[in-house]
Amino acid sequence: MVLKNFFNKTKYEKKIAEESVNLEVIPSHIAIIMDGNGRWAKKRAMPRIAGHHEGMKTVRKIARVADDLGVKVLTLYAFSTENWKRPKSEVEFLMSLPEKFLNDFLPEIMERNIRVQMIGEKEGLPEHTKKALNKALEKTKNNTGLILNFAMNYGSRAEIVNAIKKMMIDVQEGTLNFDSITEETMNQYLMTSHLPEPDLLIRTSGEVRLSNFMLWQLAYTEFWFTDTLWPDFNEETFLEAIQAYQKRNRRYGGLKGEEIN
Ligand code: IPE
Ligand code: IPE
Ligand code: MG
Repeated sequence: MVLKNFFNKTKYEKKIAEESVNLEVIPSHIAIIMDGNGRWAKKRAMPRIAGHHEGMKTVRKIARVADDLGVKVLTLYAFSTENWKRPKSEVEFLMSLPEKFLNDFLPEIMERNIRVQMIGEKEGLPEHTKKALNKALEKTKNNTGLILNFAMNYGSRAEIVNAIKKMMIDVQEGTLNFDSITEETMNQYLMTSHLPEPDLLIRTSGEVRLSNFMLWQLAYTEFWFTDTLWPDFNEETFLEAIQAYQKRNRRYGGLKGEEIN
């Protein structure tokens, strides 16, 4: 595999050149719980929103490196259904970030052939946030490169409950046969029906929990945690996670060839 921006020698490309990352075994779908913006700001005696602003820059960095490495799907947990509990001013700032992010980054997204998608309850978002997201979804819908998937107003339990409700309606209406419901049926009713399951989950900031993120989809995902706060996360930390992933032995409950005797 050849890096798209091969001549732009950066630190992460040097790391790859040192052969510590195998470009043939890049996780197809990487999901990230981007955490620690508030603490990053607090450490600097800045308001929490300064941390969110800085975190937005990290999103751009990581989208670029994921695209360069040939990752197929990058899912970023940006706002949970529980984050509405935060102070109104912080929520308002977070809801303004998609516009800010896309205003700056959309031309490059187009250049890179990246497709923006989202999971979560779009209808619950403020009009201006929805508008910015819709514009990006529409503009990039025919792009065939990296899927940059934002989890916005996303909660996994709500997603599962909604999937079950939709399945029950379809059973009632006769378009779904109760006896033929399988795990695959469930996959099809989730918001991620069009995506492969994440291969690698990263959570930053030292928290070791899922916080209602992709509970069904993460059943066999490899987890990687770092104390690094999201605004400090960078290409090198991302590669560290991928390197760790490459050392894992994914068994899916079975045994690998060399273990059978
Ligand atoms: C992650 O950073 C961003 C969102 C959850 C929206 P936090 O805002 O949770 O930062 P901490 O965890 O308070 O440091
Ligand atoms: C999870 O982070 C949600 C996002 C990163 C968007 P939180 O900071 O909201 O999670 P908790 O409250 O620490 O579990
Ligand atoms: Mg947090």
